[in-house]
Amino acid sequence: MPNLNKVDTIVKSYENMRTPLIYILKDVQNEFGHLSEEVLTQVAKTTRIPLSEIYGVATFYSLFTVKSKGKHIIRCCNNAPCHVNGSNEVLDKIKTYLGIEVGETTADGEFTLEYTSCLGVCAVAPVLMVNEEIYGNLTPEKAVAILKDYKMKGSVHA
Ligand code: FES
Repeated sequence: MPNLNKVDTIVKSYENMRTPLIYILKDVQNEFGHLSEEVLTQVAKTTRIPLSEIYGVATFYSLFTVKSKGKHIIRCCNNAPCHVNGSNEVLDKIKTYLGIEVGETTADGEFTLEYTSCLGVCAVAPVLMVNEEIYGNLTPEKAVAILKDYKMKGSVHA
């Protein structure tokens, strides 16, 4: 159960700002990992902003997430250079290995699979990112080996 007093503290820290909602939601998400209904209801209560308006903001901006995410976030690049170098095959293999689609989280809470736009390392396409780490020159098999490594060793990676 989240400590909702922290929501009140965050809201209070922006009390002199005219339009603080985005800043509040950013801090609340950093604190709780995602913007659950329970947490957003507390934001509505403390700010006296209607919950519907808060939901509107939370679901409009891609930096906010109302769904819980896995321990490891996999971001697959599918921009043109990665695409022509086989990112679809890599992504298909990952989807099969994890049993989820893009935008979903595995049942054990280990992985969330997402797309990302170009990561700026097209020279080593196809590329994916796990948490803050970038992996290039991927094959489908190499991608699965990387994920197995994360699963076995927690956040440690090759
Ligand atoms: Fe994938 Fe640039 S297109 S890293």
